[in-house]
Amino acid sequence: MSADIGVTGLAVMGANLARNLARNGYTVSLHNRSVARTDALLEAHGDEGSFVRTETLAELVESLERPRRVLIMVKAGAPVDAVIEDLVPLLDEGDIIIDAGNSHYPDTRRREEALRAKGLHFVGVGVSGGEEGALNGPSIMPGGSQESYETLGPMLEKIAAQYHDEPCCAWVGTDGAGHYVKMVHNGIEYADMQVIGEAYDLMRSLAGLEPTAQAKVFREWNTTDLASYLIEITSEVLEQEDELTGRPLVDVVVDSAGQKGTGRWTAISGLEVGSPVTAIAESVFARSISSQRDLRAETNAAFSSGIDENAPAAEFGSDFVEDVRKALYASKLVAYAQGLDMLVAAGQEYGWDLDLKSIASLWRAGCIIRADLLDTIMKAYDADAEDRPKNLLLAEEFTEAINECLPAWRRVVAAAAQHGVPAPVFASSLAYYDSLRRDRLPAALTQGLRDYFGAHTYERVDKDGTFHTLWSGDRSEIEA
Ligand code: 6PG
Repeated sequence: MSADIGVTGLAVMGANLARNLARNGYTVSLHNRSVARTDALLEAHGDEGSFVRTETLAELVESLERPRRVLIMVKAGAPVDAVIEDLVPLLDEGDIIIDAGNSHYPDTRRREEALRAKGLHFVGVGVSGGEEGALNGPSIMPGGSQESYETLGPMLEKIAAQYHDEPCCAWVGTDGAGHYVKMVHNGIEYADMQVIGEAYDLMRSLAGLEPTAQAKVFREWNTTDLASYLIEITSEVLEQEDELTGRPLVDVVVDSAGQKGTGRWTAISGLEVGSPVTAIAESVFARSISSQRDLRAETNAAFSSGIDENAPAAEFGSDFVEDVRKALYASKLVAYAQGLDMLVAAGQEYGWDLDLKSIASLWRAGCIIRADLLDTIMKAYDADAEDRPKNLLLAEEFTEAINECLPAWRRVVAAAAQHGVPAPVFASSLAYYDSLRRDRLPAALTQGLRDYFGAHTYERVDKDGTFHTLWSGDRSEIEA
């Protein structure tokens, strides 16, 4: 019997995707560098569907119907290139290689170009939802040629998370577009988690709300416009008690956040395509600062907070908690607005015609940033191109929301600064909003300074042309 698809790389994500495919009625050929892993999968889950056991890549390729579809699920980077190199001589024109790992989009673009020249399709697929999603329905963001999506798409749509019977899977664009969209998803994920962390820290440090009390607050927030997977699991993490000490688990976990690279790639790409993803970049930096533990300890010993201990104690009651909720929602909107903005900028840079409404639809279920908010985002982009908002914050629904949250957002950022609690994403999101909103920015002075020391020239508000002031001469203005 020939198999519908082959999966190589059977660590937990690959194994779960293979099982998901088999459970959905596809015959799946299995391959792993060490056969023991293939056998362990078959032993534990072989009865879940139709699997073909293979020991070598040649056997895997041999077992597949044409055009062949081989899904690679190995560690991003060199291991992907190594598998591709081994696979290519075994494949024929029109066959499809699928990379479902968290690969960096420039790698995907390079691989797609090289394989296209050999007559092969290379599909970089963003997959979100962790182990559980891979097994029961992830959010899937496929890139690559539209032609390959014709045969591959139905399979991916079948195994994807379903949101009210709509699959959270759709072709997003050529070459690296799928991995790019997944990368931006992760950038938003970083910002989303950071603002949740800032809310927690403020409520704990200023309002004295202990983790278990906060678990209740987050559970309640999950019934508001903040409703999302990350808010839901925050309440679960906060109410978890440490088995060893009986203390809240969050108090015994080392406060140094790890990162595998996708958030950093998002921030770097934002800089490259000229899209100010400040909230996402601040979230990455917040993780970096958290991991400078020795420096933090020294600084902790060297400085006080500078807060006047004799000042009357401020009140941080339930009004403050509601303020924090609003600051969290507004900052979250900024993170989404920035992520979507960079998709537009990257689309222009790399020639992808990215459909923001469709991309928002892919994130409604299965993925880590799934949130009720995405329905509203879809609505915001459900218009003819010329009527779509230039920025998510300009969509009617969100303009109203920002206006409603604004006073609270300002109070929270001010309280954080005044009481020495770092809230980098609350603050930078507010600065982003204010920067977009103001009619004049100090960039005019920056231009003046650039012209002074480097004759970099400037434009005027009142006439066309490029100008330079003769700073070291008589200070008259000349047309440059
Ligand atoms: C997902 C996740 C997943 C993973 C990332 C983030 O969408 O399922 O984003 O891809 O959690 O690798 O990892 P770091 O936080 O370690 O960078």
